[in-house]
Amino acid sequence: MIPDNVPEENVFYGSGDLKKESHVPSFDKYKELYLKSIDNPDEFWGAVAKDFFWKSKPTGPFLSYNFDVTKGEIFIKCMEGASTNICYNLLDRNVHERKLGDRVAFYWEGNEPGDESSVTYRELLQRVCRFANVLRSQGVKKGDRVSIYMPMVIELVVAMLACVRIGAVHSIVFAGFSAESLCERIMDSQCLLLITADGFYRGDKLINLKHLADEALQKCRDKGFPIKRCIVLKHLSKEPEESVDSHSPPAKRSCPDLQVPWNPEVDLCWHALISEASDECEPEWCNSEDPLFILYTSGSTGKPKGVVHTVSGYMLYTATTFKLVFDHQPDDVYWCTADIGWITGHSYITYGPLANGATSVLFEGLPTYPDVSRMWEIVDKYHVTKFYTAPTAIRLLMKSGSEPVQKFKRESLKVLGTVGEPINPEAWHWYYNVVGEKRCPIVDTFWQTETGGHVLTPLPAATPMKPGSATFPFFGVVPAILNESGEELEGPSEGYLVFKQPWPGVMRTVYGNHQRFESIYFKKFPGYYVTGDGCRRDKDGYYWITGRMDDMLNVSGHLLSTAEVESALVEHRAVAEAAVVGRPHPIKGESLYCFVTLKDGVGYSQTLEAELKKQVREKIGAIATPDYIQNAPGLPKTRSGKIMRRVLRKIACNEKDLGDTSTLADSSVVDELFQNRCCASV
Ligand code: WT7
Repeated sequence: MIPDNVPEENVFYGSGDLKKESHVPSFDKYKELYLKSIDNPDEFWGAVAKDFFWKSKPTGPFLSYNFDVTKGEIFIKCMEGASTNICYNLLDRNVHERKLGDRVAFYWEGNEPGDESSVTYRELLQRVCRFANVLRSQGVKKGDRVSIYMPMVIELVVAMLACVRIGAVHSIVFAGFSAESLCERIMDSQCLLLITADGFYRGDKLINLKHLADEALQKCRDKGFPIKRCIVLKHLSKEPEESVDSHSPPAKRSCPDLQVPWNPEVDLCWHALISEASDECEPEWCNSEDPLFILYTSGSTGKPKGVVHTVSGYMLYTATTFKLVFDHQPDDVYWCTADIGWITGHSYITYGPLANGATSVLFEGLPTYPDVSRMWEIVDKYHVTKFYTAPTAIRLLMKSGSEPVQKFKRESLKVLGTVGEPINPEAWHWYYNVVGEKRCPIVDTFWQTETGGHVLTPLPAATPMKPGSATFPFFGVVPAILNESGEELEGPSEGYLVFKQPWPGVMRTVYGNHQRFESIYFKKFPGYYVTGDGCRRDKDGYYWITGRMDDMLNVSGHLLSTAEVESALVEHRAVAEAAVVGRPHPIKGESLYCFVTLKDGVGYSQTLEAELKKQVREKIGAIATPDYIQNAPGLPKTRSGKIMRRVLRKIACNEKDLGDTSTLADSSVVDELFQNRCCASV
């Protein structure tokens, strides 16, 4: 499956000299290790597990599983019987056994240039222990779910690891999501407590997070699910004496407009609580397969699904992928620009880097604030060696040309990474030539919230790169390409990307709905985990992701389901029916093009359009704001009444060649939609 020989022409390596120190210095070495990881996973992962602390050892095989729905329930178990605590492995082990207490865990860089602080491993351990004691004193116990809705601050890491230390299950909701989305997630996972912050700045925009959190809690109450406690971090309104971090200079944030509503029945002040908490906190020893966290991701039916990851497998997998894919070395400064509210931040800001004792940058702001040089300024400021971002950010910065990049030296950079969607070759070349000056290999990492960590990816010193290809599988991962009838295709081919066996970090279930887990990922092709992505394998064996095969959209590297946007639209009193499709967008990858059929007697207007956009933003979050809304008195449907999205996609792009339309019930609808496209120039 892995080719014997990789091509020598039309591939890229990066001219920097990583090989001397690399963990996997050649393609041959990659192949050798890959085969070992497949033939003997116990030995391969057993060697990895030796670096970690186990309170008790596993009692069975490294991995056991069933991937075939026709043979019974789907399950994946890794290191059953062993017990450990991830927080202990990330912090205590690094401070006490590996003597890394004085090493910086995070350089925090605020939204406003000059607003900065840092935390060492020893300090992080102390802060996590204190907050873990706070959670315990609030009655949080092993297995309880805690919802976290916070900006990108060190306390977000503290909050998540404090949960982990006492065996509680965190459910982080990205702070860009709406109150409605937060409420839905809190209720689905039946969270005991919410942790949030007063507010934060995103660029020059003030986000009153507490206000949104309150609205969410009120919605929960209205739906019969009262949350008793909400712990509030004062990020913008912190008094100097409330600072626990003696290294931070006075904050340069100011927010005269911020009003922090306070409900004394529910709200508790983070700072008051930790000031009384002890620094000592015995970790809760957890079983390998105990839940570690829940993270919601869009589901194609519209209802988000709570992806559940468990303790040991996720720890080993994020630690190993981080170490090898970024070729981590002790003197690295690593920076992942994602938000911790997404899986990329969970796996590659918190868990993977801390498991390796890495030093990372934690950035609160935006790539374009105060200007488009900000990223490169930060790279030089902290001497970042390994840098991980998304194609959408690269395309956004590429628009401003190379000058803002070249204002900074970027000499420290060694490896560049991307994630979230296929990277178009133009953006790849700009990243490679301009940002990395042909020196840095690019690791195009394909993975999903569900996979826990990278599954198809180059290794920087080993894999010859092809721009736009995620190249080959990571250790332990066995991909296949299937045709519509579920037959495995050999050699160069294109079809459904599936995986034939589990790796330690794959998700275990959908929270509270194992049946949904089985039907989404395992029903279509029994015996395989179905990613939902299309994929092509070229003559050299390289894998190329071709995009989603289902009704999912990828906006700025984040999945949204057409159904969830449609249901937000039809909740508006004026809308009878809605159909949403993706339209290629030069920066975001895809933009949302929405067709709405209004109820009888309602007229279309600019005001209504603005209301609809606002409605979707409020129901889901800013990321789902429609780019285009078109009044559609009729929608193209099959004779059986199914909306033909394929046709709508063509209309959105103004492509007249519709292919086979013989199943269309009324073709005049299509002509009308073409004539009234909402923006003739797009
Ligand atoms: C979907 C998963 C994994 C963290 C970010 C998104 C697409 C992701 C790549 C890539 C091509 C990619 C896929 C996948 N995707 N990375 N390197 N090349 N496509 O997590 O929200 O769970 O989305 O993102 O379509 O299925 P997610």
